[in-house]
Amino acid sequence: MNKKIINQIIQGDSLEVMKEIPDNSVDITFADPPFNLKKRYNDYKDNKEFNEYLNWCKKWIYEMVRITKPTGSIFVHNIPKWLTYYSNFLNEIAYFKHWIAWDAPTAPMGKSLQPSHYGILYYAKDLKKNKFYEIRYPHKRCRKCNYLLKDYGGKKANLHPFGPLISDVWTDIHRIKHNKYRDEHPCQLPIHLLERIILMSTDENDIVLDPFVGTGTTVIAAKRLGRKYIGIDIDEKYVKITKNKLSKEAPNSKIGDVWVSFYLDEVVTIRDRDWEKLAPYFSIPENIKEVDFKKIKLNKHKKLFKHEKNEVLPLFNIKLADL
Ligand SMILES: C[S@@+](CC[C@H](N)C(=O)[O-])C[C@H]1O[C@@H](n2cnc3c(N)ncnc32)[C@H](O)[C@@H]1O
Repeated sequence: MNKKIINQIIQGDSLEVMKEIPDNSVDITFADPPFNLKKRYNDYKDNKEFNEYLNWCKKWIYEMVRITKPTGSIFVHNIPKWLTYYSNFLNEIAYFKHWIAWDAPTAPMGKSLQPSHYGILYYAKDLKKNKFYEIRYPHKRCRKCNYLLKDYGGKKANLHPFGPLISDVWTDIHRIKHNKYRDEHPCQLPIHLLERIILMSTDENDIVLDPFVGTGTTVIAAKRLGRKYIGIDIDEKYVKITKNKLSKEAPNSKIGDVWVSFYLDEVVTIRDRDWEKLAPYFSIPENIKEVDFKKIKLNKHKKLFKHEKNEVLPLFNIKLADL
């Protein structure tokens, strides 16, 4: 791997840039491509002809699989319509693990059911070697009464204090609703969505590559979690925004020495195997059945490192010609 492109954002056509990256050299690839829905990007025209769009998608999907390591995973986010075609491409060269349904309202499509989820295709380069960690998210509770929404009946003594293992339906992460939280970009993803994917499929220092990085969600998540990253976008303006945001981030999404994902002040994703190390940082009722109506709390004084700003790292201007 060309060391020059590690921890960099490259302005260029992702197909061309990925061609410069060796086979089996990055740990995971995540793509959130333009959806061909005539979205108003700064520069990119989101209105390819049907076959032209799909032929183009097939090419970058093949590149993503080629550069991913045998231990690695390939993730592609889109609306279900396009994912049905992507699956056909991916089934030829990688192994299906999951179709993650991310419960989030999407644009109405006219005479149809109201689309209410995006899909994230999750493929392994090699099923036997694939790196995967089980993850947990906080119990869902009634906002008014604080009781768990799920009825555990007689099984409350087996409750996990933090929350359940996550399924392939993700209902607890919301799209960015308020303009004050978003950049000048029509379809920015929430950072904790990417943090969940990264915690589930990589280790510290692994390389995460996003060929359509937009205003930087994936690379910021990777940096906060102590992973290396490579981001590519064709649009100079988005590259600039990403670099600026990255310069204010640090690898500090941690409790003690354990990487976790936060949203606001809540821990929203942990790895199952880290729970023993994390538990001392939480106030947990002695009688575990009380978790049914008592939320466990992160002890304030022990909350370490979370997203403190850090030193500004140099970011070089890299274009395709420099590779
Ligand atoms: C759906 S957006 C990605 C948003 C990103 N996930 C985020 O959270 O900010 C798709 C991005 O692909 C970029 N793009 C379009 N065509 C491209 C190409 N051929 N190579 C690289 N980037 C491209 C667009 O500029 C746009 O920023």
